[in-house]
Amino acid sequence: MNNLKILFLGLCLIATTKPDAEFWNSMAQENLKRVLQKQWNTNIAKNVILFLGDGMGISTVTAARIYKGQQQNKTGEEAKLAFEEFPEIGLVKTYSVDEQVPDSAGTATAFLCGVKAQSGVLGLDDTATYKNCSSSIGAEVDSILRMSKQKGKSVGVVTTARLTHATPGAAYSHSASRGWEGLSNMEGVESQCTDIAYQLVMNNSDIDVLMGGGRRFFLSMNKTDPELNRTSSYQRWDLDLVDEWLRRKQEENVSHSYVWNNEGFNAINPQTTDYVLGLFESSHMQYEYQRDTGPKGEPSLAEMTQKAIEILGRNDKGFFLLVEGGRIDHGHHASQAAVALSETVMFDKAVQVAKEITNDDDTLLVVTADHSHAFMMAGYPSRGNDILGVVDTEIGEDDMPYTTLTYGNGPQQRRNLTGIDTTAFTFRQSGVVPLGSETHAGEDVPVYASGPMSHLFVGTHEQNYITHVLAYASCVGPYPGRCAVPPVSTIGSATSGSVISFLLLSISFFLCWL
Ligand SMILES: *[C@@H]1O[C@H](CO)[C@@H](O)[C@H](O)[C@H]1NC(C)=O
Ligand SMILES: *[C@@H]1O[C@H](CO)[C@@H](O)[C@H](O)[C@H]1NC(C)=O
Ligand SMILES: *[C@@H]1O[C@H](CO)[C@@H](O)[C@H](O)[C@H]1NC(C)=O
Ligand SMILES: *[C@@H]1O[C@H](CO)[C@@H](O)[C@H](O)[C@H]1NC(C)=O
Ligand SMILES: *[C@@H]1O[C@H](CO)[C@@H](O)[C@H](O)[C@H]1NC(C)=O
Ligand SMILES: *[C@@H]1O[C@H](CO)[C@@H](O)[C@H](O)[C@H]1NC(C)=O
Ligand SMILES: *[C@@H]1O[C@H](CO)[C@@H](O)[C@H](O)[C@H]1NC(C)=O
Ligand SMILES: [Zn+2]
Repeated sequence: MNNLKILFLGLCLIATTKPDAEFWNSMAQENLKRVLQKQWNTNIAKNVILFLGDGMGISTVTAARIYKGQQQNKTGEEAKLAFEEFPEIGLVKTYSVDEQVPDSAGTATAFLCGVKAQSGVLGLDDTATYKNCSSSIGAEVDSILRMSKQKGKSVGVVTTARLTHATPGAAYSHSASRGWEGLSNMEGVESQCTDIAYQLVMNNSDIDVLMGGGRRFFLSMNKTDPELNRTSSYQRWDLDLVDEWLRRKQEENVSHSYVWNNEGFNAINPQTTDYVLGLFESSHMQYEYQRDTGPKGEPSLAEMTQKAIEILGRNDKGFFLLVEGGRIDHGHHASQAAVALSETVMFDKAVQVAKEITNDDDTLLVVTADHSHAFMMAGYPSRGNDILGVVDTEIGEDDMPYTTLTYGNGPQQRRNLTGIDTTAFTFRQSGVVPLGSETHAGEDVPVYASGPMSHLFVGTHEQNYITHVLAYASCVGPYPGRCAVPPVSTIGSATSGSVISFLLLSISFFLCWL
């Protein structure tokens, strides 16, 4: 039915519009047809993948899509990131219990554990205060990863940051400080609190796939880091957590692999390997633009995501996977927009790979950010102007050119850009308020979703709602009930909605012609 109406509407439009309007009209009609055909997917989400772009606010998404398009020698504005093809989108309020503009720890606790927390705090409710060990005892909350594991699903964490960093940390640890990543950070902390790396191996070695950076918090002082060829002062004096992880997996007699470079990563057979610990850097993994892709180098976020899905996907009960593009945030803090955008494009590639090898019928894909950045795209540059370039239509009243991308604050003062290559990865865009590090921003972030129950994200929501939708869609944690009854059909209501929107559209088109 809808198809016929659209065809009719389309024929009317084509017959009455000028040829140069046809491009935009037909594009909009195709879009309209897609949206009218949309039906709620009320299936059970056997698998859930949560993609988290650290610091990926809406201005970052817009600039990254243009950057992606321009790398393909197009004007760029018309390009689409893979997750912009997702059918559902909502907005997320990111403030934490104690901060108007949040950090990555309180927000990760919200979208992974279902409750808002204080900034700086991981996997604890808001009775826990920052850096106060005793306040954390009894305040522990379970993450969606833990809830999924309890239901027999396979679970994994993949990140370009340290595995002990804020976002991945909230998936498995309970820590009154995001800074307690390793033993070397625990000076003066009561012994009842343990560091995040310790908790990962000693209390969470049942996590099936772990890949990222942060090796220095796992290795003992007695070991030379294989890439640095020296020890780092962050290494441990209590035990070697890599050896401990290997010992546990040997004892459990499960197929497992510890890897720290591409050679090891490429040798993992996802069909026969059940557990992976990948620690590819002493600290964070390399920025995508600097990444060594050779055998001594490290995998991309897309490569890690693909391998993780291949391993986790062998579980008949399904899986939960957290994929973090952890260094979009770092590019922005340094006011290096090109770095943030290239990290975002690789993050998008990971989403695309996941979309290609999973199925909408049983896999819920969610893409969101923890918080935004003080990142602006402004001025009146012409269509197709280099997104990393200076505005081509005017200069500032101070007689100096200015870039389309700027920051609200940060380490770089405004200066004369004549003759400077503003597209270089090392170039820093200027910020209005001088600060050593550019800051997060407090406006809402988007959440894009595709697959079972993705329509539940439509609207403006508190950030902790995300965990609840993931749990509800996959019947884990507090929401086992939905899987016990057959899913409710909602096709009727969707159809009547479409008819109303069609009528409204017909009327407005009619008015336009008059
Ligand atoms: C874009 O154009 C440049 C310069 O002409 C060329 O080197 C490059 O291969 C092109 N890239 C694509 C993706 O077509
Ligand atoms: C730490 O938390 C405990 C328990 O909530 C509280 O009694 C104590 O006063 C706090 N310590 C500090 C230094 O705030
Ligand atoms: C974590 O593991 C350590 C070492 O096995 C153990 O002492 C501790 O009780 C565990 N903590 C929790 C919360 O299970
Ligand atoms: C560490 O040693 C290896 C093997 O000798 C060498 O290939 C590598 O370049 C060294 N790395 C550094 C950072 O010096
Ligand atoms: C380091 O080596 C010393 C001497 O062999 C040993 O006593 C200590 O337990 C080792 N420490 C770790 C963390 O393996
Ligand atoms: C370990 O697993 C292998 C293959 O699953 C099996 O053949 C072997 O008997 C197991 N060993 C022990 C000690 O359980
Ligand atoms: C900016 O630099 C260019 C080239 O050095 C120079 O011609 C121009 O006058 C400078 N503008 C200002 C406002 O100093
Ligand atoms: Zn940050």
